[in-house]
Amino acid sequence: MKDNKAIYEVTDFKLDNASCLFYEALFHNANGYIGVRSLLEEGYPETYRYKRGQYINGFYDITKMKQAEKLYGLAEEKQTLLNVVDTQSIKLFIDGEAFSMFDGEVLSSRRWVDTDKGITGRRVFWRSPNGREVKIEIIRMASFHQLSLFTIDYSVEPVNFSGDIVFESNHQSDVANFFDPADPRTAEDRADYLTMESCELKDEATYIISGTSKSGLRVCSCVAHSISNEIERHFFIEEKNARCQLIAQAKMGSKVRLKKYAVFCDSIRCDDIREQAAIEIEQAQSLPIEQLYALQQTYMENYWKNCDVDIDGDPEQNIAMRYNLFELLQSVGKDQYSNICPKGLSGEGYEGHYFWDSEMYIQPFFTITNPAVSKKLIEYRYETLDMARENAQILGHQKGALYPWRTIMGKECSGYYPAGSAQYHINGDIAHSIIAYYLATGDIAFIQAKGAEIVFETARLWMDAGNFYKGRFHINNVTGPDEYTCIVNNNYYTNAIAQHHLRWAVRFYYLLKGNAHAKKTTDRIMLTKTEVDDFKKAADNMFLPYDKDLKINPQDDSFLQKQIMPIDDIPEENYPLLLNYHPLCLYRHQICKQADTVLAHFVVEDAQTEETMRHSYEYYEKITVHDSSLSTCIFSIMAARLGMEEKAVDYFGNSAKMDLLNLHKNTHIGIHTANMGGSYMVIVYGFAGFRLKEDGISFSPMLPKKWRSYRFKMCYQKSRILIEVNKTHCAFTLEEGEKKTICVYGEEYCLKDKLVIDR
Ligand code: BGC
Repeated sequence: MKDNKAIYEVTDFKLDNASCLFYEALFHNANGYIGVRSLLEEGYPETYRYKRGQYINGFYDITKMKQAEKLYGLAEEKQTLLNVVDTQSIKLFIDGEAFSMFDGEVLSSRRWVDTDKGITGRRVFWRSPNGREVKIEIIRMASFHQLSLFTIDYSVEPVNFSGDIVFESNHQSDVANFFDPADPRTAEDRADYLTMESCELKDEATYIISGTSKSGLRVCSCVAHSISNEIERHFFIEEKNARCQLIAQAKMGSKVRLKKYAVFCDSIRCDDIREQAAIEIEQAQSLPIEQLYALQQTYMENYWKNCDVDIDGDPEQNIAMRYNLFELLQSVGKDQYSNICPKGLSGEGYEGHYFWDSEMYIQPFFTITNPAVSKKLIEYRYETLDMARENAQILGHQKGALYPWRTIMGKECSGYYPAGSAQYHINGDIAHSIIAYYLATGDIAFIQAKGAEIVFETARLWMDAGNFYKGRFHINNVTGPDEYTCIVNNNYYTNAIAQHHLRWAVRFYYLLKGNAHAKKTTDRIMLTKTEVDDFKKAADNMFLPYDKDLKINPQDDSFLQKQIMPIDDIPEENYPLLLNYHPLCLYRHQICKQADTVLAHFVVEDAQTEETMRHSYEYYEKITVHDSSLSTCIFSIMAARLGMEEKAVDYFGNSAKMDLLNLHKNTHIGIHTANMGGSYMVIVYGFAGFRLKEDGISFSPMLPKKWRSYRFKMCYQKSRILIEVNKTHCAFTLEEGEKKTICVYGEEYCLKDKLVIDR
């Protein structure tokens, strides 16, 4: 397939404030540890609002949570991801004139992300007000090889003059978090979280150490430079900032090149942050930058080897998918202290909290392409299991663990409990991701060491949150995924995922029976056989709402009694509804923010007949507004499942290009990582009909008419399989590992090398 899907670019890009904010998120650099929004190094006009931001995954402070009424157990504090420091500001002066794209004349400009090389770039051909012309190229990288490192590689070429080139490069602690009192998806007020402890110059590198106000965390950043054609270098250590002035001499037609290295070390991960920063900066500079680029490219090659997706016949979707999968890699935390924010590390939307997005939308991608990453994500949940136990107690449960709806370090951070803490389904979602990890890898050792304990403790919660009534198990007063319908009885999704969860808790209990390590765990948490029998009884008798007349699964017990809010009557400017209608008005109507029952039909498909799923799909589609970015991908997957090709393709388009086209109009506060994982699931679970179950893996591929073919790779129990689907057949190639049994269109095959099956 020939298209340059590795590069997403915009040429002659816009410079209005909204566009600048959008590109800051779209072209950010991250490596799962640090994230840097892509601001223009030279800055913006003073009237601009900007979100200069550099983040460390999992690095937070604790702030007050405003609760209107002091009810028992409501969170009074929350964690907030911090904007830690600014190392990206660089002002450029050419023969005394300051470079600014808002001044003089921009003759041409381009910004791009290169997903093969793992870098972003900006190129500008600029004429100064006095007629000096320069070509500028800036390459930025958040290194995967050295996670603490962010580099800016800045070249300037005078086109029609020779003269002095001066860089004023900043390293500043004087930063604040973004806030917007009008938008519940960002922080509501400004707070200065970090206090600078020291700003120091040592061996031509500047070090800034800052500490948080409440969480007791500290961070050290260190910045160093190297420049060609250097004449002079001066350092200025100011109250909160360090500045380095670098002067070089440039000849017409030849380049001056500045390399700026910034490293970050935080006290969550290292004992001596100052010492570690010195080691890291030395390591960064010990290799020529070209070698750092080569290491980055090798890392990317290995990444794509396992997860690349190719669509032949739709180059735009192909580029969009490539971009999405790159962003998932940029966003995912790679240690047990971090996870994935809904906005990745590209902005402060949702204050850097981790949600169910990780387990239900993003982890499925890693589980079948890079299971080691999934394992780390589960380990993060394991690390916070004790806090989930405490959370369960706060909510009045005697036993078990309830994971917080949103959190960084493990404590609940939901301000609005009806659409937050009440989403108990998060327990089932986490269990589901552990089950999928086990099915994809067969890694029973990990289940025994950590996974099972999470599954048991969270399963216990259902027994306490729910109860038997007239022989059926009911779960009352919870909120399902659809946040426009809150605190309901027997949300179908919740009950279905709880049933799946409880069944697997029983399964793991018996799978691990007789294993000494597992016994230690069950003894420690005092899990008895009687309890496990109760899990089974609750699962077998789980109440799953069904309406005989409509032949659908109602979203909950009272959903169908409510009036339908006709979507056609909602004016365009009233979207998203959460910003324009009182919550009670939404809760009182049949109107869905996002896939809920339709999601349940995807995740636990064996609970219903195809007919019920089809009727439900048709019913919910008419009342779902997709105000959440987690929705269209699921409607696409289920449309594909139910043979509605056109719908599947339309919803996929929305999902794949959501950020590139800013379809939710809020990419400026960060990209939508859950949707990105969802767009991958559309191809694999939707179009290719992949399913991962205990009896093996299966496929039932379809090909959208507009496409000539598509292909993707996946890892399954230590083998790597390439799947190709074209108009006449589908092919499965075992690229690595041992033979596997796979099921295609309902028939079983043994995959030894290559299997070609007619469509
Ligand atoms: C959605 C949630 C999601 C959260 C973070 C909300 O708008 O309704 O399901 O977890 O965004 O992405």
